[in-house]
Formats: sequence, C-alpha cells, structure tokens
Amino acid sequence: MTRRWRAIGAIFVTAVVIAAGAWVLVRQPWSSSSTSAASVAEGKALYQTNCASCHGTRGEGQPDWKTKKPDGLYPAPPHDSSGHTWHHADGLLFRIVREGGQVAGPPGFKSGMPAFGGTLSDAQIRATLEYIKTFWGPTERKSQADQSLRDPYR
Ligand code: HEC
Repeated sequence: MTRRWRAIGAIFVTAVVIAAGAWVLVRQPWSSSSTSAASVAEGKALYQTNCASCHGTRGEGQPDWKTKKPDGLYPAPPHDSSGHTWHHADGLLFRIVREGGQVAGPPGFKSGMPAFGGTLSDAQIRATLEYIKTFWGPTERKSQADQSLRDPYR
C-alpha cells in the first residue's frame, strides 16, 4: 500500500514538473532563444547594477544622446523603443557589451561604452540583453528577433 502511494506521489511530482516546464516554454515570448524567465530576472538585477547609471533605470538613455559631447564621445543612448538598440542583432549587441562600443564603429572609433567581458560572464551578458528586450514593444521585438537569425548570440 505505502509503495503504491509513493509511486502515485512520484507520478504526481513528475507531472507537476513537466507542467511547470511547459508553462515556462509556452510563456516565453523570445522563443527563438533558449534564455529562460529566470535569466530575465537575473538580467534585471545585473542591468540595474551595471548599466542603469548611464542608460537609465528604464533604458531611457542620457539627454541629447545623438549629439557628441565636448570630449568627442556620444552620451549613452536609450535602450527602449525610442533608441536603436533594437536595430542590432543579438550577436552584435553581445559583442558591444563584451568588448566595448568601439566594435560597432569604424576603425579608430572611440566609444564611451565600456567593455564588460572582464566583469560579466557570457551568460550574464545574455541575461542583461534579454532584460533590455522587455523595454521593447512587439514590433521591435519581432524585427530584432528576425535580424538575430542571421547574427545570433555566440
Ligand atoms: C559609463 C557609461 C555606460 C555604462 C555603465 C554602460 N554603457 Fe552602454 N553605452 C554607453 C555609451 C556612451 C554608448 C554609446 C556608445 C558609442 O557612442 O559607441 C553605449 C552603447 C551601448 C550599446 C549599443 C546601443 C546602440 O543603440 O547601438 C549597448 C547594447 C549597450 N551600451 C549596452 C550596455 C549594457 C548592457 C550595459 C551594462 C552591462 C551598459 N551598456 C553599460 C555608456 C555606458
């Protein structure tokens, strides 16, 4: 009798685990990538610690971000739908954050965007970028997901 109940319990737990897994898979709107909801939450914390001081807590960027400052560098651009972060594929965004903003410019280009490769792991960079995507509307997300098929995360 006890053994049977234990078996039933095991089946029940397995069913709950499968249902929870299916729920996470179905709910995630970024189905082209393998990033889970947990890493978006992690990305939020990482974003607030490492990025918000320049790019704003809601990705609003710095004022006059299209105008060079006296030091020759551009201010931090917004990451929300008003910026152009969503024009870049996952692969390029990843390289910008890992290696610094100069990778997106012509040779010799000086960027105010620091390299985070020494501070954040590759998984942490991906999680931060997945969080930035929550600033976008469905149009931006779709367009960026399409581009990322050609240049995915490495
Ligand atoms: C010291 C300020 C500063 C911090 C901190 C910072 N950035 Fe930036 N970021 C910039 C600037 C300035 C640019 C514009 C760079 C340029 O002119 O090349 C930029 C550009 C970018 C771009 C390219 C955006 C685009 O629209 O082309 C991405 C992506 C980016 N940052 C992500 C991040 C992430 C993710 C973090 C945190 C891990 C972060 N940044 C932290 C200053 C910063």
